[in-house]
Amino acid sequence: MEERKDFVQDKYWYDSLWIYAFGFIILIFLGIVFHRSINPEWKKYQSEFKKVVEKKLGPEVARKIDFGIKQIWNPDIMGSNVADRCITCHMGVEIKGLEGEDVPVVFRTHPNPDGIMDKHPIEKFGCVSCHGGQPPALTTKQAHAGKGVRWLWPVYTREMQKHYKIEEDRLVMVQINCNHCHRFDKETPGMDYINLAKQIIQEKNCRQCHVIDGYGGNIGPALTYEGDKSHEMFDFTHIEDQLAEREMPKTVFTWHILHFENPQKVVPSSIMPNYGFTHKENVALAMLVMSWRKMKYPIEYLSNPDKYYTLKLIDEGRIKAQEIELVSRTDRNINLKPSNGQQLKEVKDISELGKQLFASKGCNTCHHITEQKLVGPGLKGVAQRRTKEWIIAITINPDSMLNNDPIAKQLLKEYNNVRMVLVQPVNKQEAEAIYEYLKTLK
Ligand code: HEC
Ligand code: HEC
Ligand code: HEC
Ligand code: HEC
Ligand code: HEC
Repeated sequence: MEERKDFVQDKYWYDSLWIYAFGFIILIFLGIVFHRSINPEWKKYQSEFKKVVEKKLGPEVARKIDFGIKQIWNPDIMGSNVADRCITCHMGVEIKGLEGEDVPVVFRTHPNPDGIMDKHPIEKFGCVSCHGGQPPALTTKQAHAGKGVRWLWPVYTREMQKHYKIEEDRLVMVQINCNHCHRFDKETPGMDYINLAKQIIQEKNCRQCHVIDGYGGNIGPALTYEGDKSHEMFDFTHIEDQLAEREMPKTVFTWHILHFENPQKVVPSSIMPNYGFTHKENVALAMLVMSWRKMKYPIEYLSNPDKYYTLKLIDEGRIKAQEIELVSRTDRNINLKPSNGQQLKEVKDISELGKQLFASKGCNTCHHITEQKLVGPGLKGVAQRRTKEWIIAITINPDSMLNNDPIAKQLLKEYNNVRMVLVQPVNKQEAEAIYEYLKTLK
């Protein structure tokens, strides 16, 4: 009996050690939770804010500050259950006299370049419509939806800009969000990056291959809501090395920058031209395509609301895109008619007609008329190195030539399997005119 009792006691002693240890851990944990709940991050900022105000504007003003959780609530723009609480930490945005470098960014009077804040009053627009972020969150990490929190609506900070090698001290990526509402402006003051990208889209006529805003060609994917495409839909396998080497984060934004830089490096068989853009242009274009999202803002929050309405009707299949004027007339003419607007049959000189067709059929998207390569070979001297029949054949039906003709097959190999495709169909007569034009490129 004695022996057995000892044994039982031993076992109790052993077990209770665990219970004590476990209890202690829970106590510490509860302590932390309690401490946090009475000392949340935002309170720390508010007491710092008070000190800043005392120093800059005097104790009188500091005494009048109303502390606690602050919010802007506007169901029209944020949804009925969402409050924008950014001002809980950013208490100084609407207080004059807190401008300047000596005030920490978080407490500064909101900058007002070109009177932009007068056009978007804070009580109506909140903060998130321009900056992104998670409106009700009360910690910096959650509110800014930054590192480690998934990119959906991050606040675009200066730190983030550095990752993308944007060498500017002002906030430029915020323009992605501006364009949610200014999508159909040709040009908007204060949106220099987006304006630049919009200009490139027109100049390079990206619509030859892409549907944008309901209209364009279908050689490349439709881009109207490119910004809504999720991370999983992009293939990063060919750029893993570059990401590591250049220390860029693995985000869709990076994917777009690298893709504009060199489409074939990201998608090896891509027929999208490598335009040789500068880094600024790549970033601007990436910003623009990321801004193309389906937004649910009411009409009074949109610039050019009629265009948004038209796009909505196209999305719903209620009108056909071709029937309406979404882009400038000249932009359409490049696609559909010779650039000077003349009807084809009125042109007398056949090589002149060919020259116009070369542009209107989109051959110039992939071919320079010099010796320089673009997507395909430079076409200078092509009529000397190939026969008339051969050139006409590849112009009308590149697919069959690339499959069957030995010279075309060889070319395909030289061009890393990037296949010539027609942006617009070409008939025999048109091909002959184009040939006459190519003959002049000696
Ligand atoms: C109309 C769009 C718009 C709204 C609304 C808006 N901002 Fe801004 N904000 C900007 C722009 C643009 C800049 C960059 C200005 C610049 O660098 O010239 C900026 C800059 C900032 C900065 C950096 C200030 C600095 O000195 O570097 C902070 C912080 C900021 N905003 C917070 C907020 C908060 C908080 C709100 C809501 C109360 C808000 N913003 C509402 C557009 C907006
Ligand atoms: C818990 C406090 C807190 C909340 C809530 C908060 N911020 Fe901030 N914010 C900061 C601090 C601190 C900074 C200073 C820079 C930093 O640490 O990132 C800052 C900086 C910024 C900047 C400037 C970034 C830069 O690089 O100059 C912007 C813009 C901004 N916040 C927007 C927002 C928006 C929009 C919200 C609401 C969704 C928000 N913040 C909510 C604490 C907060
Ligand atoms: C939630 C939607 C929304 C966002 C986000 C937004 N704006 Fe606006 N903005 C408007 C509306 C609506 C007007 C009213 C004038 C109009 O109909 O063109 C306007 C007007 C303007 C104007 C004056 C236009 C004029 O012709 O007088 C400028 C400039 C401007 N915004 C720039 C910006 C910039 C820069 C940003 C980003 C920092 C931005 N906006 C973000 C909706 C928005
Ligand atoms: C000759 C046709 C052609 C032209 C012109 C062209 N693209 Fe593309 N683009 C493609 C093809 C094909 C793809 C799909 C393969 C790839 O990702 O490269 C593509 C892919 C893209 C993508 C990625 C879409 C996605 O979700 O995968 C974007 C963004 C894009 N193009 C933008 C542009 C812009 C902006 C221009 C004008 C500066 C342009 N493209 C001009 C053919 C073209
Ligand atoms: C989407 C890009 C693209 C478009 C648009 C395009 N081509 Fe091509 N073209 C190529 C590529 C790439 C090659 C090389 C063969 C290959 O890899 O498919 C080629 C080859 C050629 C060649 C042979 C060049 C040589 O050196 O032998 C001719 C001629 C030619 N294209 C004419 C045209 C004409 C005319 C048009 C307009 C009707 C046109 N191409 C439109 C991409 C394109």
